[in-house]
Amino acid sequence: MNKAELISIDEIKKVINGDNVFVITDTNVKALYSSVFDGTRHAVIIAGEANKNLETVGRLIVEMVEKGCNRKTTVVAVGGGVVGDTAGYVAASYMRGVKWINVPTTLLAMVDSSIGGKTGVDVGGYKNVCGAFHLPVRVLICRDWLATLPDREWLCGCGEMIKHALLDEDIFKATLPVIDKLVARDMDVTAPLMEMSARYKESIVEADFKEGGLRKRLNVGHTVGHAVEKLDNFRLSHGQYVALGIVAEATMLKNELDINRYNDVIRLAHAVTTDAFPKLTSEEITEASKADKKNGSGEIVIMLPTGNDVKEIALTPDEFKEKLEACIYDL
Ligand SMILES: NC(=O)c1ccc[n+]([C@@H]2O[C@H](COP(=O)([O-])OP(=O)(O)OC[C@H]3O[C@@H](n4cnc5c(N)ncnc54)[C@H](O)[C@@H]3O)[C@@H](O)[C@H]2O)c1
Ligand SMILES: [Zn+2]
Repeated sequence: MNKAELISIDEIKKVINGDNVFVITDTNVKALYSSVFDGTRHAVIIAGEANKNLETVGRLIVEMVEKGCNRKTTVVAVGGGVVGDTAGYVAASYMRGVKWINVPTTLLAMVDSSIGGKTGVDVGGYKNVCGAFHLPVRVLICRDWLATLPDREWLCGCGEMIKHALLDEDIFKATLPVIDKLVARDMDVTAPLMEMSARYKESIVEADFKEGGLRKRLNVGHTVGHAVEKLDNFRLSHGQYVALGIVAEATMLKNELDINRYNDVIRLAHAVTTDAFPKLTSEEITEASKADKKNGSGEIVIMLPTGNDVKEIALTPDEFKEKLEACIYDL
């Protein structure tokens, strides 16, 4: 897997103006950076998760055919995770697969979704159920895009960054003292943490490309996080639900953690989201967690980072509900 490269917007312009390139972006990025796309062969998808679907894929493929793309075309995704996942999947499918380059423009995409070659779209409301592993030939990072990112999307990226911090002691030690500056978008603090976060994701993906085992640890905070995200109707950003999920999962399994560690974990997560835990019952959260596609066996799995290790804890739905019930009013 090629490592992400740090490059300037001017260099990105050269790439997207290259020979036989097809650029895919979304309406927000196009509106904010329209001059970047001048003269390029490109398509624009409507921003938002709702458009990460097969209909968009079909439309993009038709557009590629009509604009003369062939087997030698390189697709370049310029956008957040939605654009990256969709364009990557288009590249995996177009004429049985063409090369692609990912140019992430959100914090989440720069430290997480652009790394690892997972591409795909949602079908029938089920997230990421149709996709392919298709590694981009290059991942081009330019932090200048982040200047226009809304705060909600910034916090979204921070949620995944603290998840990486819980999984890697060096990142944990580097993040804890400066967490408030990261959240406040101080780029002097953010830039090195982004670098560490992206390298961490690369190392996990490299060791476990197809999610045999190691990659599962990236689900920290996501068992409860995903359930609450759905039940709360996506009011907050995904990363904020991950932070809430981290709080809930660590508190449910507090007796497995050193108390100082527990307090540090909560401090990191609360810095990312000061929002109260949504008013949901433990029954509702248990039901939604059971429905998660990762819990095929009927048990609900929580990945708990303990500082030295990550424990995979499988609970029956009854055990899960009981542990959640015991702490839900304190979350
Ligand atoms: N492939 C993977 O391994 C992986 C990992 C994690 C998440 N994901 C996927 O990533 C998606 C989420 O990605 P995301 O958080 O980047 O969301 P997103 O792509 O929807 O971007 C968030 C919002 O920010 C806007 N935006 C993008 N760049 C901007 C910029 N520079 N300035 C201002 N606005 C900008 C977008 O138009 C959008 O409205 C989800 O679909 C998720 O499933 C994939
Ligand atoms: Zn996530």
